[in-house]
Amino acid sequence: MNAGEIAKLTDEALAAARAAGSVADLESVRIKYLGRKGLLPGIMKGLKDLEPSERSAAGRAANELKKSLGAVLAERKAGLAGEGAAKPAFDCTLPGTWRPTGSMHPISLVIAEAVRIFGSLGFTVAEGPDVETKYRNFEALNTADHHPSLDPRDTFWLETGECLRTQTSPVQIRVMESRPPPVRIITPGRCYRRDTTDATHSANFYQIEGLYVDKCVSLADLKGILTYYARQVLGPGVGVRFRPHYFPFTEPSVEVDFSCHVCGGKGCRVCKHNGWIEIGGAGMVDPRVFDKVGYDSMKVTGYAWGMGIERIAMVKYGIEDLRTFYENDLRFLEQFV
Ligand code: DAH
Repeated sequence: MNAGEIAKLTDEALAAARAAGSVADLESVRIKYLGRKGLLPGIMKGLKDLEPSERSAAGRAANELKKSLGAVLAERKAGLAGEGAAKPAFDCTLPGTWRPTGSMHPISLVIAEAVRIFGSLGFTVAEGPDVETKYRNFEALNTADHHPSLDPRDTFWLETGECLRTQTSPVQIRVMESRPPPVRIITPGRCYRRDTTDATHSANFYQIEGLYVDKCVSLADLKGILTYYARQVLGPGVGVRFRPHYFPFTEPSVEVDFSCHVCGGKGCRVCKHNGWIEIGGAGMVDPRVFDKVGYDSMKVTGYAWGMGIERIAMVKYGIEDLRTFYENDLRFLEQFV
């Protein structure tokens, strides 16, 4: 190869080196021209066959190929390595990928808060099944067969003779059957009644039951603990009212109202212009219930309550229609964190 041919080859080699897009491409250019079996060693070997007059020019051209290609290869290699290093692992200026994280359902929030508040007072959580025996849902709770709540128009009866529990009270029975006094439990859970769904009723709803059995437990303790709970949930200004009532499994029995948090007791749509919201029932455990579970009613006394969780969530968050809890409308649910 004479000097002119070598210069042409040099141009090609430099163009190839400049066009290389990766370190691996650069390496193949290097091997092709400068490698041990590459073109340059062949040119060097062929120099001796040239006319002596051409030899020195060809020699210089070959050296030029080696030098200039070597320089371009080194420069491109540094450039490619630099590009790699300077490029951050991710571009922190781009907007992030949005992932919906979900939020707690208001009913779960009320349950979690109740578990925390009553937990701080020594209550532990007990649970029972949604499908309950007639004995535990009614008979052991001193509820006679002729009581209207057993009517199939009120209770979902199953073919097995069991029912979908109409209240969380049967968990009281399960707990007392399984251990001796003292007992201090709360039981949040689902209940079922054949109610037609409207703004304040649902065939499926939640209650939180509480039970405290020990020596010398009194109605005053019950009033104290429910008032404490109301103040924790709705603030120190909330009013708590106990009205005489009747439940088969408590004697005496009361109904418990909280003053309406939404209007401050003045009257609004949430409290149906009455200033108070009925939250649940409560009372002193009837000795006949203790007899059913084998507790000595001469030795122990106890109080119990059952509160509607939706009712509490309605006053706490100012919700007028109970159906919104079950419709899975994200515009509603996303407001709760
Ligand atoms: N189980 C009753 C209901 O669903 C509420 C209730 C009242 C629960 C008095 C109790 C209680 O534990 O002592 O209406």
